[in-house]
Amino acid sequence: MTSITNKNHTKVLLVGDGAVGSTFAYAMVLNGIANEIGITDIAKDKTKGDALDIADATPYSSPTKLYSAEYSDAKDADIVVITAGAPQKPGETRLDLVNKNLNILKTIVNPIVDSGFNGIFLVAANPVDILTYGTWKLSGFPKERVIGSGTSLDTARLRKFVGQELNVDPRSVHGYILGEHGDSEFAAWSHTTVGGLSIAELNATHPELTDQRLAELNDTVVNAAYDIINTKGATFYGVGTALARICQALLRDENTVLPLSVHMDGQYGVNDLYISSPTVVNRNGVVSVLEIPLSASEKEKMQSSAAQLRKVATDGFK
Ligand code: LAC
Repeated sequence: MTSITNKNHTKVLLVGDGAVGSTFAYAMVLNGIANEIGITDIAKDKTKGDALDIADATPYSSPTKLYSAEYSDAKDADIVVITAGAPQKPGETRLDLVNKNLNILKTIVNPIVDSGFNGIFLVAANPVDILTYGTWKLSGFPKERVIGSGTSLDTARLRKFVGQELNVDPRSVHGYILGEHGDSEFAAWSHTTVGGLSIAELNATHPELTDQRLAELNDTVVNAAYDIINTKGATFYGVGTALARICQALLRDENTVLPLSVHMDGQYGVNDLYISSPTVVNRNGVVSVLEIPLSASEKEKMQSSAAQLRKVATDGFK
């Protein structure tokens, strides 16, 4: 079933107008990704104000219709983006948010489905892997049309830090952070390349890229959100931009590969769980989950990450 009909007019409903949601909406406008963005949140003054404020950017960016919306506005939306939920506080892990944010999610998904929505759910609220599984279960949608932002942000951080390490444009660094969007995520170094050179090949000119240094870079990525939260209190520019990029890939029917939280059916030895893997997406949502050949230690990290998620999942949202 094509979920985003091949029409000229594209519409996204944003659920959650906090720092992440409003930044996402702004990124969408600056990049001209959708024709229409409805913003809904319990804080109606905020959604009305943000719709007016972000629309002021349209004359210098892209003609986008923005308004304070209701769940019923999902009926003809192509994508519903869910950012609603409590953000991490200093010292809190993403998994610590599971019960609070699952309860919020339960108040969102049913009215969205009841609106007649027939598009793609894109979930960003944390813990995103468990909340994306929960959205899939609550909505009854095909798994291909329920996607989590997963490690798309973490992968951006990996590309940024490796680019800084080697003084290379981060857009020329390719690789993935895989697993949970959380403390058990890991860099698939065996698939990381810079200008087509593998880490091993790079070692010839960059002997400083030792296993120890790679482990430090991995930890820098894993701890990146904490570093930001401990300084400015929250993260939103990176994740807002990642969400906009995912919407662009969906709405433009790109068949692009992105690291996303998707339903596993045995890939990497993981079953019936949402976790991040390189995934081909287009206007129908998930086209295929790419099971890239991981090293033995990377496969172990993926399965350990899956076990971490299973440990915390509640109410069958594993
Ligand atoms: C972060 C939040 C989005 O990693 O989980 O910044």
